[in-house]
Amino acid sequence: MAREKAVVVGAGGISNAWFGPLVQEEVNVAAVVDLRLEAARGQIEKYGLSAEASTDLKAMLEKHRPDFAVDLTIPESHCSVTCAALEAGCHVVSEKPMASGMEEARKMVRAAEKTGRMYMVSQSRRWDARHKSIQEAVARGRIGELTTVDCGFYLGAHFGGFRDEMPSPLILDMAIHHFDLVRYMAGADPVAVYAKEFNPKGSWYKGDAAALCIFEMTDGVMFAYRGSWCSEGCHTDWNGNWRFVGASGSILYEQGEAPRGQAVAGDTGFNRPLNDFQVSLSEVAREGMHGGLGEMLNYLRTGAVPQTECHDNIKSLAMVFAAIESSRTGQRVPVMAME
Ligand SMILES: NC(=O)c1ccc[n+]([C@@H]2O[C@H](COP(=O)([O-])OP(=O)(O)OC[C@H]3O[C@@H](n4cnc5c(N)ncnc54)[C@H](O)[C@@H]3O)[C@@H](O)[C@H]2O)c1
Repeated sequence: MAREKAVVVGAGGISNAWFGPLVQEEVNVAAVVDLRLEAARGQIEKYGLSAEASTDLKAMLEKHRPDFAVDLTIPESHCSVTCAALEAGCHVVSEKPMASGMEEARKMVRAAEKTGRMYMVSQSRRWDARHKSIQEAVARGRIGELTTVDCGFYLGAHFGGFRDEMPSPLILDMAIHHFDLVRYMAGADPVAVYAKEFNPKGSWYKGDAAALCIFEMTDGVMFAYRGSWCSEGCHTDWNGNWRFVGASGSILYEQGEAPRGQAVAGDTGFNRPLNDFQVSLSEVAREGMHGGLGEMLNYLRTGAVPQTECHDNIKSLAMVFAAIESSRTGQRVPVMAME
């Protein structure tokens, strides 16, 4: 097949994680678009691309007619950029989070339906061998029927900049990763949430940088999420520390180490006899952002639907906004992806 042609929109920090894989996969990057022309030019030079730099997305889509667009802009721009690319007839892979609000996200899903183009969101943490291994072990019934999932995430993150000023920095900017991961690893979708956001004493954030959330998931699975971005000392891994409890065993995944577990091995005693096990590590061909790009290329080559196709990924975003709504109202809030 001829090399796939792409237009990349957004030449900021995260584009450094995308240009390497784009070059490695020999994608023909025809244009790099950014509101800041110098940023687009800088990345073209840095990665040795023979691409055109521009501030005009529509003109680049019309001129180059790419197979797909890569949307690496800020969340507030995702809706306009992605909809423009879909309407110009190309498929889109975009950075997370899908949008900065549910109305925009629903509009984007409808744009994909109307144009018949593929729109997928890259959730880089899905393409990680440890996470795939847990997903497979749970799905295989290694710990029996899954009942409970717990994730704790504690960092003392002194970013400076916009995160220090924004409302709900933890839930909006970070928890989308953990919420998407629980859906992936547990194989369950969100039903409703009770949540409380708060800003701990001594916080250097203006908005609530910590939260406690209880999600009801499909098949009766309960998910407890405890997170903080202003917790000094004894930090967790960026992926968080996880516990999966099933009817006949548990899996622990902590500090980014290989996941391990214990399963019931007899039916006597106050604590049942237990066998230790290691969760066997699965293969992931391409990791992180390369994994997201790989799913788009695979779609173009074989028609296989990416796992983070927009109708699926909007469920992860809906967890974010339902948690914020629950905290604001003090009520249990149903998680509604499409209305
Ligand atoms: N997967 C991850 O782990 C991860 C990590 C960091 C950032 N991200 C995501 O990547 C996205 C970008 O983050 P970043 O850190 O690169 O931000 P950034 O601010 O460094 O870069 C964004 C770029 O987009 C450009 N831009 C904004 N609106 C535009 C528009 N309408 N048209 C053209 N260009 C536009 C800006 O000028 C800027 O150069 C965000 O959605 C963020 O959440 C993901």
